[in-house]
Amino acid sequence: MNKQAIDTLLQKINDSAISEGNPRTKEIVNRIVRDLFYTIEDLDVQPDEFWTALNYLGDAGKSGELGLLAAGLAFEHFLDLRLDEAEAKAGIEGGTPRTIEGPLYVAGAPESAGHARLDDGTDPGQTLVMRGRVLGEDGKPLANALVEVWHANHLGNYSYFDKSQPAFNLRRSIRTDASGNYSFRSVVPVGYSVPPQGQTQLLLDQLGRHGHRPAHIHFFISAPGFRKLTTQINIDGDPYLWDDFAFATRDGLVPAVKQAEGAEGKPYGVEGNFALIDFDFTLFKERDNLPGAEVERLRAEA
Ligand SMILES: [Fe+2]
Repeated sequence: MNKQAIDTLLQKINDSAISEGNPRTKEIVNRIVRDLFYTIEDLDVQPDEFWTALNYLGDAGKSGELGLLAAGLAFEHFLDLRLDEAEAKAGIEGGTPRTIEGPLYVAGAPESAGHARLDDGTDPGQTLVMRGRVLGEDGKPLANALVEVWHANHLGNYSYFDKSQPAFNLRRSIRTDASGNYSFRSVVPVGYSVPPQGQTQLLLDQLGRHGHRPAHIHFFISAPGFRKLTTQINIDGDPYLWDDFAFATRDGLVPAVKQAEGAEGKPYGVEGNFALIDFDFTLFKERDNLPGAEVERLRAEA
């Protein structure tokens, strides 16, 4: 089928509209359908292949893996890069890099002032203390900023989605103190992989790719009048540090993991050896004429 015949069919679809509909949705859907028609034509996609793909997407939706798929096919990272570019055009550069949220945030975690313990003492692994400040772009500390933190347990599972963990295990919200300080105690997370029998892995196998993520900790950092920061820090030394299936590792997000002991652990109720990460987050003031940094998406809430 030649492109002209395809374009005639596309025009017919467009002309079949009986009301204005939503112009933005129309523009996007028409473009995607056109690109897919061209793909089917150019690659001689067979009906079996088309229905396999459609059924696959249905199955991925049913099993709740579309968010993972978006990460694994780098859509989430791509959207980050586009937001970076929009900010750079507006003169915003430097500061703490953003990186993907992933599909496993849960709203409603308990809130603490200044410091929180994320684990309940039953999670194996080395004790971790992470601490630092939330700063404005002028370097001034932001009091009462909100640090939302979440990470996986030693098996690579997240509370809420993994019902064997207590509610909000390894998830907390922390308000910075008057000097912009936050700190939390937890256990050093390990890397994890997409579910081996799941839909994401099924596609990754077809692409000859792995589904591993290096060890990381997720954050939302927010303060009134500032652009919300969605980011992660990675645990240095992980074998997949720069080979993340979600492409989320970025320069500036791999802080040193120091080994500490003794009096240094006192303020956090830690005795003996522990891992210590110092990390400051820098937020940019909200500006007009910039796409919002607060992303609307379906999130779990407990
Ligand atoms: Fe994660």
